[in-house]
Amino acid sequence: MIEHLVEFFGRTHLVVLHFPIALVIVAAVVEVFRAIAPKLQRRAAVEPFRPSSAGSLMFAFALLGTVVSVASGLVLGFDGGERVDLHRILGIVSGVLMLMTGLALVLAMRPQSRGGAVYLGLLSVSAVGVGLTGHFGGELTHGAGFVTKPLERMIGMEEAVISEFDLEALNISQASLDTFHDSILPIFMNSCVECHGPDEAEDDIRLDSIAYVLDPAADMIRRDDPDMSELVYRIDLPHDDPDIMPPEGDGEPLTADEIELIRAWMKSLDS
Ligand code: HEC
Repeated sequence: MIEHLVEFFGRTHLVVLHFPIALVIVAAVVEVFRAIAPKLQRRAAVEPFRPSSAGSLMFAFALLGTVVSVASGLVLGFDGGERVDLHRILGIVSGVLMLMTGLALVLAMRPQSRGGAVYLGLLSVSAVGVGLTGHFGGELTHGAGFVTKPLERMIGMEEAVISEFDLEALNISQASLDTFHDSILPIFMNSCVECHGPDEAEDDIRLDSIAYVLDPAADMIRRDDPDMSELVYRIDLPHDDPDIMPPEGDGEPLTADEIELIRAWMKSLDS
């Protein structure tokens, strides 16, 4: 029974961790704002900084949440291996920073104390540490760049990688490359890349870049006879064929126009 409770405690990590991240960042923003606002208004005699009760309360809950998160994280990640090392080390460092910040807060709250600035500095560093820990933790559960990937696709950063490829090495004309980006890639992005892309490369093939599509190792395209290409075969099948792409139930089959565009583009490759 104990082991089940321990396992449960480890898994609470994924719920509890959000509280200290949000609380310590908000506490730091509030206190830093309170510290600099009087200076910005150029008030004559600026009092030394003293922690506010609202900020301190938020920090106290953040500290509690951090202690629980670090403890449950250590239980959860016990056999997580090297993958979790960075997250674990940052988590422990942030935990220590938070404890030091707590100590600084207690000292800063004593009457006549001038320790407010120390507290403020430690609080800010802790907020950054906890935020970074959360960031790398998120990459563990969702994969690197999970949040920003749609933006990268939107602004075409993935294409930037493509332009590094040499046209000559790909043996493709500028016109064919442009057509690929203008008409073909959007079809693949829409219907195929969720399974054949950076997140998941089913059957080891990717369709999110010209270099992968033309990669001889992928063997999807036959330049000498496009109609015999595996890729064309897979998209131009009866809709209930078990080989059709996208697989039945996992997306609409490509339209006749889309298939024709892809065919025509492949034919342009060798001309
Ligand atoms: C829902 C996931 C999914 C989607 C969407 C999808 N595929 Fe696939 N694809 C697979 C899986 C799984 C396989 C391996 C099993 C198989 O060969 O049928 C595969 C295999 C392939 C193959 C065969 C590769 C080889 O080595 O023989 C090609 C070509 C292909 N897909 C092209 C496409 C194209 C083009 C699209 C978009 C029009 C697409 N796929 C959309 C999951 C998907």
